[in-house]
Amino acid sequence: MADITVSLTRSMTTDVQINNGAFENALVAHKESLWMYDISLPSAFIKALNSQIDPDHLIGIAPGEPAKSWDGLQTIMTRLDALDITPDTPVVGLGGGALCDVVSFAASVYLRGLPLVLIPTTLLAMVDASVGGKTAINTTAKNRVGSFYPAQTVIIDSHFLTTLSPERMAEGFSEIIKMAVTMDATLTEALETNALDIDAIIGQAIQLKAAIVEKDLTDQGIRRLLNFGHTTGHALETLHDYAFSHGRCVASGMLMEVADPPLKKRLKALLDMYECYAPIPYEKAALLEQIKTDKKRSKQTLTWIHLRRIGHAELEEIVLTDLAQYIPRYEEL
Ligand SMILES: NC(=O)c1ccc[n+]([C@@H]2O[C@H](COP(=O)([O-])OP(=O)(O)OC[C@H]3O[C@@H](n4cnc5c(N)ncnc54)[C@H](O)[C@@H]3O)[C@@H](O)[C@H]2O)c1
Repeated sequence: MADITVSLTRSMTTDVQINNGAFENALVAHKESLWMYDISLPSAFIKALNSQIDPDHLIGIAPGEPAKSWDGLQTIMTRLDALDITPDTPVVGLGGGALCDVVSFAASVYLRGLPLVLIPTTLLAMVDASVGGKTAINTTAKNRVGSFYPAQTVIIDSHFLTTLSPERMAEGFSEIIKMAVTMDATLTEALETNALDIDAIIGQAIQLKAAIVEKDLTDQGIRRLLNFGHTTGHALETLHDYAFSHGRCVASGMLMEVADPPLKKRLKALLDMYECYAPIPYEKAALLEQIKTDKKRSKQTLTWIHLRRIGHAELEEIVLTDLAQYIPRYEEL
């Protein structure tokens, strides 16, 4: 008997709407949807939610990483089980990256997939977590269980940023700078000269991310460019037991991963301009060990992101035994 090939395709598109005031409109347009929201959001946003959405359609979720857990997922699933959910019941996730990740994961598996709308409320979630379809909860390691499940709609309202702390704004800018320097010299220059308003910056960053994930949703190739600063940044984060924010570690990681002095100087000036960089000490040997531990489960090589010039980076496969040549000592950073 001949082999049989089953060709399966699923059309996936995300409609991203960027509009200051979009939250108010979404409360009306998605009145009948099921809203899952971060209960720690500033009270004005919670008040608006409560005034527009039926309490039976509201599921409050704890803030931050604790929600991205089996317990957090079970809380959501138990609430969904108690409701009259059909496969066409839309779920709206309102919150930062942690909320977007767990709500998206729940939506991806409940009834094998519910329509998903995300309304990110942090800059990081606007430019990164809400676009590109990665969903996750943390188990024995961060983001260990998850799926690829892009939202149908992402609604960006920069009004949410008015209540965000400077540290959280810097976390978002760290990711924006990462995308600009690796992919777009014009956006980098615009950031350096403060030439764009925040909606334009968010829009351009999302376009850069969209161009990457359209080519490589499941992280097999070009999407790894988005890991610039993350190989070393993540190791730094783990080494310090998550005492420093992800964005701050990624900022240090980006500087560690650039060898060329003028390029490093320009990147550092940009990170300083958006208050993303603050030194985090490290022992080079311990950092190398941590990177190797992170990679232990896969292979003996690592995909290094080589920033050739502003606006252009390339993927390079390096053997782990050569890694020491690529990473500076803290004193050299
Ligand atoms: N899926 C992806 O592609 C992707 C990409 C990047 C990051 N992430 C994930 O995103 C998470 C980090 O996201 P985050 O930085 O948004 O953190 P977060 O979701 O933990 O939110 C941070 C804090 O900000 C508060 N907050 C949210 N919006 C606010 C607002 N408008 N005003 C004031 N406070 C507000 C929250 O209550 C919370 O305490 C991590 O879990 C990370 O793994 C996912």
